[in-house]
Amino acid sequence: MNEIWSKYIQGIKTLYSSRKLRFDDMFSEQYKSFFGFDENKPIKILEVGCGPGALAEALHRWYPLAEITAIDRDSNFICYAKENVHGVNFLEGDATSLPFDDNSFDVTISNTVSEHIEPTKFYGEQRRVLKPNGVCIVLSSRKGINISPKCFTYNKFEQEFRNKVNQFDNTLNDYSVCKYPMSEAELPLAMQKYGFDYVSTGYATVDLTPDAPKYKAEMAHDMINSIRYCSLESIESVLNTMPEHFTEDEVSKMKQIVNERFDSRIADYDAGKKYWETNLSIIMMIRGTKI
Ligand SMILES: C[S@@+](CC[C@H](N)C(=O)[O-])C[C@H]1O[C@@H](n2cnc3c(N)ncnc32)[C@H](O)[C@@H]1O
Repeated sequence: MNEIWSKYIQGIKTLYSSRKLRFDDMFSEQYKSFFGFDENKPIKILEVGCGPGALAEALHRWYPLAEITAIDRDSNFICYAKENVHGVNFLEGDATSLPFDDNSFDVTISNTVSEHIEPTKFYGEQRRVLKPNGVCIVLSSRKGINISPKCFTYNKFEQEFRNKVNQFDNTLNDYSVCKYPMSEAELPLAMQKYGFDYVSTGYATVDLTPDAPKYKAEMAHDMINSIRYCSLESIESVLNTMPEHFTEDEVSKMKQIVNERFDSRIADYDAGKKYWETNLSIIMMIRGTKI
């Protein structure tokens, strides 16, 4: 049983809620026009490093005829996805030795995974399982805009909690997170280098600004709560990553403060008070073909 990512790095709700927004149908045209798949054909798609399954779920909505398989090595993500996401075949497995025959898929796709896996293996395995003329798509988050609402100010207890996290957190090194980062120029070069032709790039932008009138209340709440879940799960994770530095009481006090703050932000939203906080994600898309 592998629980490294979900226990120490990013929790289920953090990934599922943020990706559900990122791959909302409101933004789908940007992805679909870049992917260029034929919606009328029963293509076979493999998602590599699927986490709790929000991209696979979106792919199932966008390409209802496709046969979608999604793989991740974290058992908790796969368990969650199997229970909550329908129409996709989820399985636990390693992207560096995919449990599929050569030439099995028309498409391989991943979101924010390439930077964590050694590229010879990341691209090599996808190339192996792709059919001739199969397409590899890599989605990679780039630097966006993240502005918190003005009403979020930290008290002394929180500041000390955060300082302690900054001082003792070594999670990224301990688990080789983002060990293979690449720039916007290096990503397409890597796809070429590891055996793909007709490489092209594009960018999708996802504007999550709850106060923007184009978003209905339900989506605005989801945006605010997505940040809440990320905050709560990162607080909880200190008991796994730095147990010698935090007590259960400190963690539960911190969670209470965070919950109250987000409850109050939602109440302000419902009362029509605007803060114009924003999270703008820029997602680079790289596409290559196996000849
Ligand atoms: C940043 S998360 C992204 C998850 C998902 N794609 C999403 O956007 O929600 C990176 C994912 O890659 C998975 N992962 C990392 N190395 C892996 C490997 N060698 N094989 C399979 N999955 C891997 C992790 O378990 C984690 O779910």
